[in-house]
Amino acid sequence: MSKLKALDKNINITDKRIILRVDLNVPIQEGKVTDKSRINKIIPIIKELINKKAKIILISHLGRPKGKIDKNLSLKPIAPILENLLDSKVYFSNESYGSAIIEKSKKIKPGEVLLLENIRFNKEEESNDENFAKELAKVGDIYVNEAFSCSHREHASVCEITKYIDSYAGKLLSEEVNIINMLTNKAKKPVSCIIGGSKISTKIGVLTNLVKKIQNIIIVGAMANNFIKYKGHNIGKSLFEKDKESLLKDIIKKCEANNCKLIIPVDVIVAKSYESDAQLKTLNQIEDTDLILDIGKNTINKIYNIIDESKTILWNGPAGYFELEKFSNGSNKIAKKITENTKSKSLTSIIGGGDTIAAINKSGCYNGFTYTSTAGGAFLELLEGKILPGIKVLEKNE
Ligand code: 3PG
Ligand code: MG
Repeated sequence: MSKLKALDKNINITDKRIILRVDLNVPIQEGKVTDKSRINKIIPIIKELINKKAKIILISHLGRPKGKIDKNLSLKPIAPILENLLDSKVYFSNESYGSAIIEKSKKIKPGEVLLLENIRFNKEEESNDENFAKELAKVGDIYVNEAFSCSHREHASVCEITKYIDSYAGKLLSEEVNIINMLTNKAKKPVSCIIGGSKISTKIGVLTNLVKKIQNIIIVGAMANNFIKYKGHNIGKSLFEKDKESLLKDIIKKCEANNCKLIIPVDVIVAKSYESDAQLKTLNQIEDTDLILDIGKNTINKIYNIIDESKTILWNGPAGYFELEKFSNGSNKIAKKITENTKSKSLTSIIGGGDTIAAINKSGCYNGFTYTSTAGGAFLELLEGKILPGIKVLEKNE
């Protein structure tokens, strides 16, 4: 990989308007941020810019509003949190581009911050629109990408914008790319990957490529429901993705061909609804009215064995609906086991993903992994060996 264009010390940023693309895609419930990991991670970076008396313009998305304004996905609740953590003025703007914003960006004082509204309220963001990117670029003098977790998206505020403004890879972004590349290129075998969570369609594709490189794949979370169903079991009302049978068949075939062990749950925790009591069931006991919401104890034991025999673990996606305590056991147990082995058996553990981080925060194991990435999809795509569009545009032309 060629080197990234870094914002080094020689570049004078005092009084300059820095567009900082960050990932403030944090979980929000009833207007309250339920996990601040992604915010906390960028605070030192913003503080550094504040100390250097730059004017900071923050761009981020939140959720997937698909080009429409959705009040529930406004970034407004993040502004006071930032202001509190930064101890500096943070203005919020209802719009994210246009002449009024350009004016505002020029008016803020050095060391102040302007947070723009959810960039995905504009359909041109996801279509990587040229004119939109040109407009966005006018809001700053220098562009810095500190959102590794968004760099697998070919979107205007990640890719196209870099054509119209002096653009750099931020410190965190470069660090994250380098560490993940280093740890995974030199990964000690056996390498095991635990994949979970509910973004099924984005992850199934990744699996197909990963099986060629690793020794064990453990599928948990809503992802696993597809496999459980494919094996002929009833999954009741559980989340799954339709019409993926041939893809699943292909993954299973590729695992066999590449000697990659595929581990899926052998027992699960179900409930009739999120509010009802949790029940442990074998796969044959699942009823039409059941929702699979976590993995069972025999599955946890199987995962323990795999963790024990692994030298490297990559983990993305929680094992269950960890937001509720009664369905968080699987994720907690996996987190504890990995951190124990990281400490006592020099296991290399790399974990990534917004939800995974939220789950490990709840388990109290946040600091026990070799490396923790706040990126989910981008983390997986980098592991796969893909070139991320948002990274490619920041490579030096040598
Ligand atoms: C993430 O949560 O992984 C990033 O913020 C990217 O979000 P997206 O998957 O909606 O593009
Ligand atoms: Mg996410």
